[in-house]
Amino acid sequence: MPLNKLSLRIFLIGFMGAGKSHVGKELAHCLQSPFIDLDEAIESVAGIPIYDYFEQKGEAAFRALENTVLQAQLATSQHYVMACGGGTPCFFDNMSLMKTMGKVIWLNPPQAVLTDRLIREKEKRPLLRSLDPTAIPAYVNETLKARTAFYAQAHFVIKDENPAIQTILNWIEHG
Ligand code: S3P
Repeated sequence: MPLNKLSLRIFLIGFMGAGKSHVGKELAHCLQSPFIDLDEAIESVAGIPIYDYFEQKGEAAFRALENTVLQAQLATSQHYVMACGGGTPCFFDNMSLMKTMGKVIWLNPPQAVLTDRLIREKEKRPLLRSLDPTAIPAYVNETLKARTAFYAQAHFVIKDENPAIQTILNWIEHG
């Protein structure tokens, strides 16, 4: 069956700065599939930016909403590419839900690449904004270590800094 006719949910997971949204949009384009950014879906339900939601309600409320919005997406459609938030696979039963309902791909570029990107983009991220840039390498190191057990359950891992979409398409087609 041609790839663009597949009815398939693809979940891109990985640390902040791994390129999930960028790769997800390209992949969705190649597969002629809808693209869903889970953070944006959460924002449209919450009615405020994630950044403000974190500030006003705290992380536990954000994680509960993230789980609710993920489950709602699972119930609505069977065909899309979703870029998850960096923490999505690490809370509730999100990882097993995604694995049961589709294919999960971990974007796992080198830690130094993530750290550099996040130092540059830290103001956009609620979990990083209050940190001094000098504290970001240690934060990435510790948080990535804690999350790796979840991320590593993915069906497929890509370690490239700039993943080739064709590599993902080949894997989807041939397993
Ligand atoms: C988070 C990552 C963010 C967003 C929220 C929490 C995390 O998504 O969901 O700020 O826990 O790593 P991105 O990975 O798209 O930045």
